[in-house]
Amino acid sequence: MRITSGGPAPEDDPGPDLSDPEFFGTGDPHPVWTRLRAHDPVHRQCPVGGKPEFWAVTRYAEVSRVLARHGEFTAARGNILTTLGQSDIAGGKMLAVTDPPLQKRLKEPLVPHLARQAVREFEPALRELSRRLLSAGARQDTWDFAAQAAFYPIAIGGLLLGIPEDSWNRLKHFTYAAVAESDPDYAGQGASRSAVLNRAHSEIFLHFHSEVTRPGRADADDLIGVLLRAAPDGEPLSREEVILNAYSLLIGATVTTSHAASGGLLALLENPGEYARWLETGDTTALVEEILRWTSPANHALRHTTSQVRLDDTDVGAGEPVTAWLGSANRDERVFPDPFRFSVDRYPNRHIAFGVGAHRCIGAHMARLALTVLFEEIARNFEQFELAGEPRHLHSTFIAGIKNLPVRTVLRPEGAGLRDLRPLGETTEEAL
Ligand code: HEM
Repeated sequence: MRITSGGPAPEDDPGPDLSDPEFFGTGDPHPVWTRLRAHDPVHRQCPVGGKPEFWAVTRYAEVSRVLARHGEFTAARGNILTTLGQSDIAGGKMLAVTDPPLQKRLKEPLVPHLARQAVREFEPALRELSRRLLSAGARQDTWDFAAQAAFYPIAIGGLLLGIPEDSWNRLKHFTYAAVAESDPDYAGQGASRSAVLNRAHSEIFLHFHSEVTRPGRADADDLIGVLLRAAPDGEPLSREEVILNAYSLLIGATVTTSHAASGGLLALLENPGEYARWLETGDTTALVEEILRWTSPANHALRHTTSQVRLDDTDVGAGEPVTAWLGSANRDERVFPDPFRFSVDRYPNRHIAFGVGAHRCIGAHMARLALTVLFEEIARNFEQFELAGEPRHLHSTFIAGIKNLPVRTVLRPEGAGLRDLRPLGETTEEAL
């Protein structure tokens, strides 16, 4: 694939289209990112098919700088590519698209509840959810791990935001549609991308609107209760701020964690020597860090420059969009020796899968715990896991995801108890 550097590309060879969900759904971005890191680390993505142009940084150093320096690179005009060219109505009200110092008001009330120590209270519930996820493998030898794993984060969102199980299927569908509106499984027949996005956003907002207006909801011992009771600097959050930030937490939790799980399992199956080494050492903490680096489920983050800046040796004008590709930064050969080797005990492992700076993921401790517990349960309950078909990937520029991961499994005697559990994906909810 030809790499275009600066200036308009010739009509007949526009180079890679980093804004094309199809490219990430069916293609392999790694060879493209590797060439960009080597030859064009501050790449100008030329307009393709009438879409707006933007800059793309792919090295660890520039990705970290774009995300860390909020004074130079603002998130307030949107933090994902699908919002490019439109003004983000949530800017200044939702923490993901609000810069410091205003962001502090939205983030501070939540931080203590998602701290490392605080999330430990969820460990028994996460273990039970993991076992339900894996129970599909106790009933059939061949099953779809990714399809089951897709319910794990909405269940985690359920723990944090008080979402009842009979809403999981519906909210899971709309959170995915909100980040993968072009994916054939979410696009809907003949609906435009904006119609799919609008429906997804309204369904999620409606859910949280009815939640926050429910009498007594502020007393609940969950993050919606925390947001409703919060009064930073003596001023309560508005109802709109509560709904937008509940939305942000749901999207953050739902669309990422399951892909780390499926991508991590796939990496183990493709590297049986590493799988065996992990079982031998039992070091699931190091495994999870390598899974996060390897899968980098949040593929990119978008920012806009606040003034002219020099990135590497390229001048980027004021007000221009810059995308920071986390999946590429986490394979940067300048930082990670042998970056394309999946190594269950990689050390040091300074990956930036959770981002950098003021917008660094608030759910990182919860995600790490959820993944650790899940992989511990995999090791405890299964003798063997092997690939039983081709994985199918999500069509999304934002989420590096796996939709289907057919596996064949052999249960250990310790796994017999899984047979009595109801699989996560088994729902009594009405079809959408
Ligand atoms: C493997 C799982 C996860 C990954 C890879 C991940 C990744 C990220 C990344 C890269 C960012 C920064 C985005 C930016 O700079 O624009 C972020 C922010 C965020 N994440 Fe996560 N996340 C994960 C799990 C979670 C969970 C479980 C939650 C909910 C508890 C969550 C909630 C959020 C929120 C609310 C933000 C915005 C924070 C801010 O702007 O201050 N994430 N996440």
